[in-house]
Amino acid sequence: MAEAAGPPAAATPLLSAATRERIRTACARYPAARSAALPALWAAQDQLGHVPPEAMAEVAAELGIGAAEVEAVATFYAMYFRRPPGRHFIQVCTNVSCALRGAEGLLRHLEERLGIPDGGTTLDGAFTLESTVECLGACGGAPALQVDRYSHEDCTPDRVDRLLERLRAEPGPTGAPR
Ligand code: FES
Repeated sequence: MAEAAGPPAAATPLLSAATRERIRTACARYPAARSAALPALWAAQDQLGHVPPEAMAEVAAELGIGAAEVEAVATFYAMYFRRPPGRHFIQVCTNVSCALRGAEGLLRHLEERLGIPDGGTTLDGAFTLESTVECLGACGGAPALQVDRYSHEDCTPDRVDRLLERLRAEPGPTGAPR
């Protein structure tokens, strides 16, 4: 007779003890634990490179709030990655000022140059392209995009081509303007 299956094994937690400690330290700085959602998500992303749903659930448990609340924060802010990004993360702002100054054309140009659709990652893992970003706060230099943590303003197809060429040669996620 077949043995009765036991309860499913508990999944191994994604967050390390050090990350959990960072989250608790962040919590201690705020009167309400939910206010620490941003630094808690940073801590998770610093460890994992991105914040998958399972990690969001663990962050929520550490904060003592619902997973949906953490997910709402993580999906609102473009700096949190829900899946592993490429070595360089390119975000094209398509909000009003940028849209009026040619952001859509810039996005199509990037899709064509990189050979990936919006939201995709190149096969070599060098680039992830996304346009689901809120205003980058660089409206005066529209159209703008952000590469890794750096803004690039007054972007034209030619400038973007030069930028891609430079980024391909860079080993890590910098993207600093020159
Ligand atoms: S609308 Fe694009 S930077 Fe503000």
